[in-house]
Amino acid sequence: MSAPAANDAIVSVRDLQVQFQTGDRRSTVKAVDGVDFDVRRGETFGIIGESGSGKTTIGRALVFLLKPSAGAILHNGVDPLAMPRRQFQSHRRDYQIIFQDPNAALNPRMTILSSVLEPLELARAGTKAERLTRAREALDRVGLPPDIGARYPHQLSGGQKQRVVIARALTLRPKLIVCDEVVAALDMSIRGDVLNLFAELQRDLGLTYVFITHDLAVVSHISERIAVMYLGRFVELGPTEQVSEKPLHPYTQALLSAEPRPLPSTMRGAARIMLQGEIPSPIDPPSGCRFRTRCQYAQNLCAEKTPDWRELLPDHWVACHFAGLPNFSPN
Ligand SMILES: Nc1ncnc2c1ncn2[C@@H]1O[C@H](COP(=O)(O)OP(=O)(O)OP(=O)(O)O)[C@@H](O)[C@H]1O
Ligand code: SF4
Ligand SMILES: [Mg+2]
Repeated sequence: MSAPAANDAIVSVRDLQVQFQTGDRRSTVKAVDGVDFDVRRGETFGIIGESGSGKTTIGRALVFLLKPSAGAILHNGVDPLAMPRRQFQSHRRDYQIIFQDPNAALNPRMTILSSVLEPLELARAGTKAERLTRAREALDRVGLPPDIGARYPHQLSGGQKQRVVIARALTLRPKLIVCDEVVAALDMSIRGDVLNLFAELQRDLGLTYVFITHDLAVVSHISERIAVMYLGRFVELGPTEQVSEKPLHPYTQALLSAEPRPLPSTMRGAARIMLQGEIPSPIDPPSGCRFRTRCQYAQNLCAEKTPDWRELLPDHWVACHFAGLPNFSPN
């Protein structure tokens, strides 16, 4: 039986599964394969993991850009898929997603103002004058000058384009934004500014974020809690400081250890753990613990039994048979 949604949950995910058919339709890709979590109102919930672990698939499912194959996603305790079509369409505006590449989100033949106006027009929100005011306010809100509206995407820098995409999402006054690698394509020198803008908007507008990235530095900078994803499942979830300073799962430890930055204090003195090999295929994932083919601690039990999702410390969850046992990890 799944856990009931927490009172402050804006999103509750229960046993979420998303599967795709391969091109030849002979196999099934289990991109997300049994994930449970709540996103709390007003927080930034980070999701990290290697390429192909299923982060974007979760993000797209959270805003119903794709339909779960099984399990449930509740928004404020309600299942949007049970809503009548019109209500569903208007409900979806409250849950936005922003991707890595602003060029893919902006039509090169439309002026910036037309692009920002577009979602308001599709939603038939207010009068024409009100829509214009809202679009201009949104551009101002993300720190862009008023004359930018008349320009075209190719006349803007990468950072300015990503700000336009944020403004576009803001016009609909969303409650939650899924940010999928939103600073990954930006120059290092402006990443901090864009992350600060996200933090400022959250503070001023009461937004909730799901922040997806493979960059631990980014996620630790902005998130209250982090989930670590591996091959379609969460392996660890907890407060950012605890997960990054005292990781409980061997995969998280390996990810941290691979980071080009000082190791957490609890791991200093421990040898760096090399993540061997590639992430296995989600078409035919390893039995038991999915990380076992790359885990330096793997034992027979790990192939036989799927580890339970255990709350080992308050609000800090892990899926590993041995996590928490003495002498098991650098902790
Ligand atoms: N439409 C699709 N059809 C078939 N397979 C897909 C589809 N979308 C994603 N996948 C597969 O699902 C798995 C998870 O993909 P996903 O894009 O969610 O990973 P990710 O964690 O976001 O990776 P990255 O860090 O590279 O963005 C991958 O094996 C991917 O190839
Ligand atoms: S369950 Fe076994 S294989 Fe999986 S992380 Fe723990 S020790 Fe490693
Ligand atoms: Mg992705």
